[in-house]
Amino acid sequence: MKIAVIGTGNVAQALVNGLISEGYDVKVGSRSLEKDSENITKLKKAHSNVSITSYTEAVEFGDVIVLPVPGSALVDVIQEIGVQKFEGKILWDITNALSAEAPGNGVIKLITTPEESLAEKIQKLLPSTHVIKAMNTVGAHLMYRPVLSEKGTVFLAGNDEQAKDKISSIVEKFGWESYDTGKIESSRALEYMGQLYVAQGILYNGWNSTFKYVK
Ligand SMILES: NC(=O)c1ccc[n+]([C@@H]2O[C@H](COP(=O)([O-])OP(=O)(O)OC[C@H]3O[C@@H](n4cnc5c(N)ncnc54)[C@H](OP(=O)(O)O)[C@@H]3O)[C@@H](O)[C@H]2O)c1
Repeated sequence: MKIAVIGTGNVAQALVNGLISEGYDVKVGSRSLEKDSENITKLKKAHSNVSITSYTEAVEFGDVIVLPVPGSALVDVIQEIGVQKFEGKILWDITNALSAEAPGNGVIKLITTPEESLAEKIQKLLPSTHVIKAMNTVGAHLMYRPVLSEKGTVFLAGNDEQAKDKISSIVEKFGWESYDTGKIESSRALEYMGQLYVAQGILYNGWNSTFKYVK
């Protein structure tokens, strides 16, 4: 499976590490190629043979495209690349829809409404793409083979079962249980879980925890 990782921040670094370690064919897209940013240097130091190119070239390469960019920038990034470039592909949405506004009484503000998640908005923008929300509830430092007291759960939402299975298999290789929460509308709850994860991290000044679904 060919996977494009768009962006080179904290989540991108964790994903690239996990994906390359698990043998996936990975291309990273960056808008900061000319500057050879600190993030690019870090990626090259961790994986000397990592392939880093423009956003467009990386998207053209990938069967699966993951966009770990700020939630507030996601729509613009997709539109700048071109919606047609995503046709027939899987878009793994790992973003949280966090607002840049200061939290109020411990509540992190969102850029979405209860009637439409960011993942749903992206699915409407890209009707010929399989959008799968997954792993937005997990800290970047825990994404790949975390050391926790128990195996945590990564929740998935999306309309296409085969696409969801493909992302589940990656999640499981990363050391997580995967749990299918249903169609893309279920991403509303997952984005609130992401909001809760960040709020708890701030409240308790600790980020080494995660969600587990117990039956
Ligand atoms: N950090 C976490 O623990 C965590 C956990 C779960 C989910 N998430 C979500 O994952 C996404 C990425 O988080 P992150 O912590 O990796 O963010 P980050 O460190 O700030 O990295 C974001 C990357 O996105 C690219 N980018 C594209 N457009 C941008 C813009 N307008 N402004 C800033 N950067 C832009 C940049 O890469 P280039 O310059 O190389 O193109 C940048 O390095 C967010 O939606 C976040 O809510 C984060």
